[in-house]
Amino acid sequence: MSLGIPQLDSALEASLSADMVRVESLLRSHIEGEYPLVIETSRHLVEAGGKRLRPLLTLLGAQFGDPKTAGIIEAAVVCELTHLATLYHDDVMDEAPLRRGVESANKRWGNTVAILTGDYLFAKASHLLADLGPEAVRLQAATFERLVIGQITETQGSTEGLSQLDHYLSVISGKTSSLIATSIRFGAMLSGAESSTIESLTRYGELIGTVFQLADDVIDISSETNESGKTPGTDLREGVPTLVTLHILESNDPTDAKLREILSAPILDESIVATTLQQLRGHEALTNARKVLVAYADQAREALAPLPNGAAKDALSSLCEAIITRTA
Ligand code: IPE
Ligand code: IPE
Ligand code: MG
Ligand code: MG
Repeated sequence: MSLGIPQLDSALEASLSADMVRVESLLRSHIEGEYPLVIETSRHLVEAGGKRLRPLLTLLGAQFGDPKTAGIIEAAVVCELTHLATLYHDDVMDEAPLRRGVESANKRWGNTVAILTGDYLFAKASHLLADLGPEAVRLQAATFERLVIGQITETQGSTEGLSQLDHYLSVISGKTSSLIATSIRFGAMLSGAESSTIESLTRYGELIGTVFQLADDVIDISSETNESGKTPGTDLREGVPTLVTLHILESNDPTDAKLREILSAPILDESIVATTLQQLRGHEALTNARKVLVAYADQAREALAPLPNGAAKDALSSLCEAIITRTA
């Protein structure tokens, strides 16, 4: 499996790859259960792949302590299972037909089965988490609370006093950065890294999480294929504002008046999705969104400064680059 980190030190790569094999094996064995339908529905997205970014971050975080400490692999699997469960739920909310290059669970089995499969995966994550101790349970609970609030505030829109842009940034911090930051924090915490290191890594995780979601939102517009494993234009179809559309909605450039009218509709009619995407692809708001995510990536790299130098720190820096490259 490619780890997706450019210029990775070869000794670190060998060690991470060996641990990712363990993660993969525990992930697959741990979702086994009694009821055949749920085994099938939960295997569906596990086997479809995905980047496995969150478990990789747990393993990288553990490089700052003793990476062989018991519980690291389990924590990595907890993070992937939590992520996976949210994907089952998110596709119901976003009515998404495609995930990880395969039919979404809601499309194949309907919303009820997709929601309950997500719940099943949360239950499975809790099983593993219990053995990692109360601090780990509390961390996962607080993270999941932030994630759920992020998802629900996305559907509710900005409340009074918060600009659309600040609202959007708080949504993505909740729905995405929370779990990405926790994934790396788990690794650092369980491996016995120093507390200042744990804090720096968590800050890096929060920032890289924001970069990651900004990139995902740009790709939802810029991608002309299903290469991401998802259907481009899902945010537009569902009327979910992102950095690109917010730039346009908040400007008063008269040439964008018609586009603003289209983007203000709660749900975009399928007949105009393709042409609207085409317009957005050529719009300077897309270029601006890329600039904003590059600025966040710079901040993420700065957060690494206090950490001890070495291959793991270099890998985290390269990861910033890899996420930016996806949006090019
Ligand atoms: C998708 O996450 C949801 C977002 C936070 C954008 P990923 O892009 O990490 O999805 P997989 O795990 O690779 O499928
Ligand atoms: C994903 O948000 C966040 C979570 C799954 C918690 P999106 O709705 O933007 O992610 P994709 O594009 O469907 O993966
Ligand atoms: Mg969503
Ligand atoms: Mg979605």
